Amino acid sequence: MSWDDVFKSLIAAGQMRFGPHPSESVLNAVKTLSEYDPAVLNAGLHAVDVGAGEGRHSKLLADLGFKVTALELSQAAAEHYSEVHRQEGYDQIEWVNSPYQEWTPDEPLDVLLAAFFHHTDGGIKVALSRFDSWLRPGGYILMAGHSRAQSGPNARGPRRSDMLWDYQEISSTLQEMGYEVIKAEDVPRDLPTASGAANHFPPALDTIVVARKPVA
Ligand SMILES: C[S@@+](CC[C@H](N)C(=O)[O-])C[C@H]1O[C@@H](n2cnc3c(N)ncnc32)[C@H](O)[C@@H]1O
Repeated sequence: MSWDDVFKSLIAAGQMRFGPHPSESVLNAVKTLSEYDPAVLNAGLHAVDVGAGEGRHSKLLADLGFKVTALELSQAAAEHYSEVHRQEGYDQIEWVNSPYQEWTPDEPLDVLLAAFFHHTDGGIKVALSRFDSWLRPGGYILMAGHSRAQSGPNARGPRRSDMLWDYQEISSTLQEMGYEVIKAEDVPRDLPTASGAANHFPPALDTIVVARKPVA
């Protein structure tokens, strides 16, 4: 089932897949950025949310004072959530319905967020190279997604290992591109157990990366 079909069904049923609230791991990445460079907040800078889905992180970025491009492959999600955001008064979010491979910003970006963005074509290095081409010198890349280091029944995200993220691979790729890596780690994600009983399996892990493009 394509993402567009997933979102069409959910929208028709009045449901959400990811819900309105940001993920803890994206909040973690944003906190790292705000501590490292507080001046980026509330400054009207331009951020892109790649694979925005239902827009929970686009709203987070807008609430932090960014002008946001919510870039989303699914036409159904882009049309529906642009209207939802308009009704909620989020005028600073512009939804764009396009695969990231075919989109180019009309100005260099200050911040790029890729949250739970697990694509199939060419792996993460190809995506990082494209993301880099959108960022201004000194711009930031924030990533939060499912880790390849997960094992056991609590593991989350795609079942294909090559689609999951390895923070060391991402970190070394960005360093080869001259980036300063501010954070690169896996963090456990709290998963509620159905019964509330103790859970003896390894927790799900999220990979978090925050890095800065060289200034010159
Ligand atoms: C797992 S969802 C995550 C949504 C959102 N980032 C979040 O964390 O709530 C991945 C999203 O990426 C979108 N997507 C997949 N491939 C894409 C592509 N090539 N270009 C843009 N968006 C894409 C999907 O349609 C989906 O909305």
